[in-house]
Amino acid sequence: MFEQITLDYGYDGLEPHIDALTVETHYAKHHATYTTNFNKALEKAGIDSTDAVSILANLDSVKDEADRNAIRNNGGGYFNHNLYFENFSSNPAKEPVGELKAKIDETFGSLDALKEKLTALATGQFGSGWAWLSVTPSGDLVVSSSANQDNPISLCTGNIPILALDVWEHAYYLKYKNLRGDYIKAFFEALDWEKVSRKYSELK
Ligand SMILES: [Fe+2]
Repeated sequence: MFEQITLDYGYDGLEPHIDALTVETHYAKHHATYTTNFNKALEKAGIDSTDAVSILANLDSVKDEADRNAIRNNGGGYFNHNLYFENFSSNPAKEPVGELKAKIDETFGSLDALKEKLTALATGQFGSGWAWLSVTPSGDLVVSSSANQDNPISLCTGNIPILALDVWEHAYYLKYKNLRGDYIKAFFEALDWEKVSRKYSELK
């Protein structure tokens, strides 16, 4: 059984950047539903793996198309939101540290340049989707975007995301209405770069 991560902040812990009602609805309704439906889809397909990355990287092995789509969408929703909620903090570090800081500077020039790239991808994602910072098998950093609940794992890129920027309207509409760009700025205010840095060091 897959379970949502436990938040280490309260629903109001990301105020004023991301409002309490949005965090509660997003985590306790949307993310919870993806998780429940992921577990149901796995049970129906007879899959008992506890490794979400491996399940998402091997969707082709699910022969039934309806089962495969249910696992792709709900498994993506489960995994993506775990990463999304995990990277926030009520007292976030504003800068990456250690190996990730050096790698961002080497790859993108600066943290601001990386944020600009992610912002452009997130703003330009038509409809629902995500923007990503991922680690390649050789430890390099890449940015990308994807539609719906797809991610760099289910798209078989071989890369593992360490930063997930949700641009589904459910992530921002209650507070920011149609202003996705304002939400993206707020996202970076609540993002804890120390947590992202830790993830990079674990993976690379
Ligand atoms: Fe979401």
